[in-house]
Amino acid sequence: MGQSIFVPKEIDVTEGRVAVSPETVKRFVGLGFDVVVEKNAGEQSRIVDAEFEKAGAKIGKASDAGKADVVLKLRRPTPAEAKTYKKGALVLASMDPYGNEGDVAAMAAAGVTAFAMEFMPRITRAQSMDVLSSQANLAGYRAVIDAAAEYDRALPMMMTAAGTVPAAKVFVMGAGVAGLQAIATARRLGAVVTATDVRAAAGEQVQSLGAKFIMTEALKDASGDGGYARELTDEEKKAQAELVAEHIAKQDIVVTTALIPGRPAPRLSVRTWSSP
Ligand code: NAI
Repeated sequence: MGQSIFVPKEIDVTEGRVAVSPETVKRFVGLGFDVVVEKNAGEQSRIVDAEFEKAGAKIGKASDAGKADVVLKLRRPTPAEAKTYKKGALVLASMDPYGNEGDVAAMAAAGVTAFAMEFMPRITRAQSMDVLSSQANLAGYRAVIDAAAEYDRALPMMMTAAGTVPAAKVFVMGAGVAGLQAIATARRLGAVVTATDVRAAAGEQVQSLGAKFIMTEALKDASGDGGYARELTDEEKKAQAELVAEHIAKQDIVVTTALIPGRPAPRLSVRTWSSP
């Protein structure tokens, strides 16, 4: 018998994804794994159990987690879930560990080896395992689609016989993977797009997508380790908040994507944009 993989139905009701698809099940089975997928795990992703079965998986129940050598998940297991795992099992998920130390300790107490997939180095060899880029890309796209649906006017300029409606003004805050996709999507829909970031290198990427880059003079560059942003100093935060407050007053839609690894995301309040 091969090593076994268990794929649970996600506990978080807002989580619509499942950690495997019929294609990946087929690949794991091909590698010699026994794959068990919890009943209805793919329901919200519109994958029915029969498709997983066809790919070679068995359909099981939550308690089957206790027999698995490997547990594949989307979200960090709750302490109650972790307790059901076999000692020594490998658990792979987006662990989001910062600020959730209690859950991390519960995994340690359960004796599992946890892999936080979001910490996978973003090197060429690991690109196919980059959970951040793939999901950020989709999130950036979806943010604009959702905003366009909420916005009660059109995004592109509309020239009608009865007059002209100007294009919507979209401001994207944070021009990493999600932000750049949001810019590209808003541009495709015909909006006039501006964007800001604290990393100077993002400016060129913003411009190459046909958007205008906005950055305060007081902030030369806040690039930190590994191409990510560092947290701003209080002075820099103040200068950025002033620029942003003035700019946002003229916008129709604001998409916020800024993040700082391991820190709370910068927050946009009514008058300011600052890190908590
Ligand atoms: P992220 O999700 O950590 O942050 C999103 C963006 O928010 C970043 O561009 C960051 O500079 C910006 N930001 C942080 N604080 C801000 C503030 N106060 N105001 C405005 N913007 C703020 O970053 P993400 O999207 O994961 O990518 C960061 C960098 O990593 C990018 O340069 C990207 O191109 C690079 N990257 C490289 C990959 C590779 O080589 N395989 C894969 C993915 C990303």
